[in-house]
Amino acid sequence: MKRILTGDRPTGKLHLGHYVGSLANRVRLQDEYNCFFIIADLHMLTTKPSKDDVLNIAVNAREMILDYLACGVDPSKSTIYLQSAVHEVYEMNLIFEMLVTVPRLQRLPSLKDMAKSANLSEMPLGLLGYPVLQAADILMPRANLVPVGKDNEAHVELTREIARRFNSMYGEVFPIPDVMIGDVPTLVGTDGNAKMSKSLNNAIYLSDDTKTVIKKVNGMYTDPNRIRADIPGKVEGNPVFIYHDVFNSNKAEVEDLKERYRTGSVGDVEVKQKLSAAINGFLDPIRERRTEFENKSGFVDEVIYDGTIVMREEARQTLTAMKKAMGLTGVWNSISRKAEKARKKRG
Ligand code: TRP
Repeated sequence: MKRILTGDRPTGKLHLGHYVGSLANRVRLQDEYNCFFIIADLHMLTTKPSKDDVLNIAVNAREMILDYLACGVDPSKSTIYLQSAVHEVYEMNLIFEMLVTVPRLQRLPSLKDMAKSANLSEMPLGLLGYPVLQAADILMPRANLVPVGKDNEAHVELTREIARRFNSMYGEVFPIPDVMIGDVPTLVGTDGNAKMSKSLNNAIYLSDDTKTVIKKVNGMYTDPNRIRADIPGKVEGNPVFIYHDVFNSNKAEVEDLKERYRTGSVGDVEVKQKLSAAINGFLDPIRERRTEFENKSGFVDEVIYDGTIVMREEARQTLTAMKKAMGLTGVWNSISRKAEKARKKRG
């Protein structure tokens, strides 16, 4: 069976943007692929390396995996693991660092964005190497497919370059993984900002309760020129209608609302009421599953623990294959053989 590797940094709970950008794909593909999900805590350290950040990893990881399970990721089918507990990734990362140039990494807008939003005036070496470490994650289980959000597309492209480079220098060890972007590559925020994001404070979380969703939807940005319900409004690019298109499965209702919005015969209140009802309808089964898993005390930890053990074995095999292909194993073998011989001779 072909393989998927993807995952997230454990910075906290996931939101609707994560769902449509990538999580939905992961759930949909889990029967067709052997899935590996990474809790990328080492990646989190590239912008949040403080002791406090480290102390938060376990809590955030549990929260995030609960979101996965609530959305339908089946723990009996997939391997969910903690990146920092698989030491081979540190070694693979170092080897891959030899196959990428600094200017290639400096050209990636994603890294500049991350440095900026973390208020870093200069680029830490680890952050520059973020996509190289990500390549090590992806190639560790020799993944064929990487379902991610749009912001990670360039990193998968770099992973493909590294895999090709490695294979051509040392022999075929890695498949060249494909990227898969979700139906809604970047979901707008509730404030109309291009991207839903925790740091922008414009997110609806998968774990938000009914009332919170209603409150957030009521506060959503719409057409700013429409100061009265009888003024014709703009549907295109309007976050409220973007959300309706994505989360309201009653297409006839959506078309009716759009029509009346365009002609100035519906109030924002009704549009928003129907939207929060749709989003709550979408979230209800997720909430139910979340509660089920929450009530199984320690279950999430078991899932991560078991997955990490599985991944360690995968990692061991891949690193061994890499070192063998490179001839590094041979170097050590030759030295140890000679050393033993010399020792025996001396008696
Ligand atoms: N870069 C991802 C993010 O934005 C997290 C991540 C780390 C990842 N390693 C990965 C995603 C490997 C897909 C594949 O949070």
